[in-house]
Amino acid sequence: MASQRARELSAAGRDIIGLTSGEPDFDTPPNVCEAVVRAMAASKTKYTDVGGTPELKAAIIEKFRRDNGLAYAPNEVIVGAGGKQVIYNALMSTLEPGDEVIIPAPYWVSYPDIALLAEGRPVVVTCRPEDGFKLRPEALDRAITPRTRWLVLNAPNNPSGATYTRDELRALADVLLRHAHVWVMTDDIYEHILYDGRRFFTIAQVEPALRERTLTINGVSKAYAMTGWRIGYGGAPQELVKAMAKLQSQSTSNACSISQAAAQEALNGPQEFVAERAGIFQTRRDAVVAAVNRIPGLHCHAPEGAFYVYASCADTIGKKTPHGHVLGSDADFVMYLLESQNLALLQGEAYGLSPFFRISFAASMQILDAGCQRLRLACEALR
Ligand SMILES: Cc1ncc(COP(=O)(O)O)c(C=O)c1O
Repeated sequence: MASQRARELSAAGRDIIGLTSGEPDFDTPPNVCEAVVRAMAASKTKYTDVGGTPELKAAIIEKFRRDNGLAYAPNEVIVGAGGKQVIYNALMSTLEPGDEVIIPAPYWVSYPDIALLAEGRPVVVTCRPEDGFKLRPEALDRAITPRTRWLVLNAPNNPSGATYTRDELRALADVLLRHAHVWVMTDDIYEHILYDGRRFFTIAQVEPALRERTLTINGVSKAYAMTGWRIGYGGAPQELVKAMAKLQSQSTSNACSISQAAAQEALNGPQEFVAERAGIFQTRRDAVVAAVNRIPGLHCHAPEGAFYVYASCADTIGKKTPHGHVLGSDADFVMYLLESQNLALLQGEAYGLSPFFRISFAASMQILDAGCQRLRLACEALR
């Protein structure tokens, strides 16, 4: 794998530029760090309720109300060690062997693997670039079978940056209303990293009738640059939350107590910087998209949210490198960038849609410029 090779080359002293990061390059805000010092001084260092402290749950309930117009009671909210644990607990506590999980591609790599761990069957539905990498209602309808347990939605999407308008979600909701056995897991973790003045909508908000079979997932990792604190959360009907908490109680128990205090401050504290940071990401996005589209053999859409560009390398497939290797896939392309230009990127294969590659712009403009320059040199050398 290219990422493994990048680590080896880096350890061997090669000057690698890595545009693979899945986390903001900003710091956790100071008010959050200060709240943690206070929490430690107040001995908030003991076990908490498995599903989260009452104070953090109150902050989450208020966040769902404020940002999403969703009303949840404390027994309809669960806090886990990252959005990832919430997803894991949900699939583990609901899937019977062979149950199907519809996953639109390109997807975040963990969804199919967690579904497989839970003995489910990932049903991958390809979302075409000409549809903005968005799930079409007809494609959703075709993918649903009597064995479908979940539809996974993720917008802004990792890796494509696709987001759904209210009308687009409405059209997906109309399909789901006709299939009462299908639950929706919506991963809204990039909610606040949105561009060009877009507004965020989540499906239970657009169609309240779906609330009774929707798990709305979010977390502090991306919006507040708090990936290491490991706090994610979900809102869902009580029965599901209960089952997830039961599983969590026999695995990790509560999420870290002082991280919960940190997340509480992040959600309750000042929010202005969130939009300011999204503005910085947007400037970088514009620079990367423009640079990629000037490179022979590459093209990309401007992502509507999140901090990744999902670019096509279709026109490089079949070309020869200066060493005479013929590029046969996006994995070959990414490996070629690494070997020839010390540039680490991730191949679309990992995200279920080829031939593409993912560029993370969670890096300084200087690093992004240097990375795009290397990308150009590599592509210009292809014959
Ligand atoms: C789409 C998506 N969902 C969830 C996560 C996991 O986030 P957390 O740090 O909350 O576990 C990530 C992290 O990369 C992600 O990209």
